[in-house]
Amino acid sequence: MKPSLIVNHRFGNYPIYIRAGLLECCTDILGEFLATSGQHALVTDSNVERLYAQAFTKAANFDFQKQICPAGEASKSFAQYEHLLDGILHGGLDRQSTIIALGGGVPGDLAGFVAATFMRGIPFIQIPTTLLAQVDSSVGGKTGINLAGSKNSVGAFWQPQAVLIDPTVLQTLEPEQLTSGLAEVVKYGVIMDAEFFLWLESNSDAVNDLDMETMTELIHRCCALKAEVVEEDERETRGRRAILNYGHTFAHAIEKVFGYGVFPHGHAVAMGMHAAAILAANLRLADRSVVTQQAKLLKRLQIPHQFPHEHHDELWKAMQRDKKTVAGELHFVLPTRIGNVELVKSVSRAKVLESMELAGHTME
Ligand SMILES: NC(=O)c1ccc[n+]([C@@H]2O[C@H](COP(=O)([O-])OP(=O)(O)OC[C@H]3O[C@@H](n4cnc5c(N)ncnc54)[C@H](O)[C@@H]3O)[C@@H](O)[C@H]2O)c1
Ligand SMILES: [Zn+2]
Repeated sequence: MKPSLIVNHRFGNYPIYIRAGLLECCTDILGEFLATSGQHALVTDSNVERLYAQAFTKAANFDFQKQICPAGEASKSFAQYEHLLDGILHGGLDRQSTIIALGGGVPGDLAGFVAATFMRGIPFIQIPTTLLAQVDSSVGGKTGINLAGSKNSVGAFWQPQAVLIDPTVLQTLEPEQLTSGLAEVVKYGVIMDAEFFLWLESNSDAVNDLDMETMTELIHRCCALKAEVVEEDERETRGRRAILNYGHTFAHAIEKVFGYGVFPHGHAVAMGMHAAAILAANLRLADRSVVTQQAKLLKRLQIPHQFPHEHHDELWKAMQRDKKTVAGELHFVLPTRIGNVELVKSVSRAKVLESMELAGHTME
């Protein structure tokens, strides 16, 4: 099968394959990357294991050592990391072995970090099974775990050998996991591709129905957009990658102040995008129509985006502590129109609080 996309990075490149049904017909692709002798590991979580591990291993026709972590963010921990390393070491993996991550962003980030560090780095293949992982976390090479109270603060850039995406697995996702991923999808349109934004507007019914042809194209377009950004700024040193943080300054603050998991990540991002668009309009960087056009699409895709009414002052304080500040100064990624954003600094507390207040209304 021909790759759907090739992602370039400084040490080479890797293919992304996207096709409905791929999970059960990927043996040829795996054959290109996995050594025929020796042990390989399949890292997954308890939910995905129950749903897909058996069908996958049967179809893949390789002998995998299965490593299952508990489903949920808590598995991105030192304890799980060590447990996994122990498991694969005693299971006989060596430098020729490959680690396959089957699951959402949690198994992907965790298994990727294990692959990056076991024996100083071994090959790694991503098979993302949430929409968020398919359009975001499986592309770009960021892997890692959390320290208590500090997300993704230990990790490595480690590129996969290949990414295999089967959109049919989205059918078993909880609705809120799906709409959470869709927020990142809308984000790509707003930050860099007005044509894609229009495409989402015209295809929103098919997206809501999870039409497979539509979802395949959607994932393809998002992976291409993310690849374009990370190819320009692989290690987040040139500023380009910062545009992916649109909505995230607000979202990280919401997650911190309200507690992780209270809102699904993408819903917090949608609330943040709504507040950021209002902030851009208040600063006269963008026309008000950007706010309404974005809110309308979020609503059509059933993505909650109404900003919380409480704790605005705490949210402001949490933003000041965000690790994404540049030289100690907070930057906002703000739209100038649909399809373009700018990095803006020196935004006053009053303007930010006013935007949070207004974003408490859905406005479309
Ligand atoms: N590496 C990156 O660049 C990057 C980017 C964005 C997010 N992330 C990370 O990704 C994580 C969030 O990812 P996520 O939302 O995929 O979380 P997740 O892996 O916890 O998956 C969410 C839930 O969906 C379940 N699930 C997965 N696939 C399923 C399927 N097909 N059907 C039914 N249930 C399924 C999981 O068991 C879990 O309960 C966070 O830790 C975040 O930091 C990383
Ligand atoms: Zn995000």
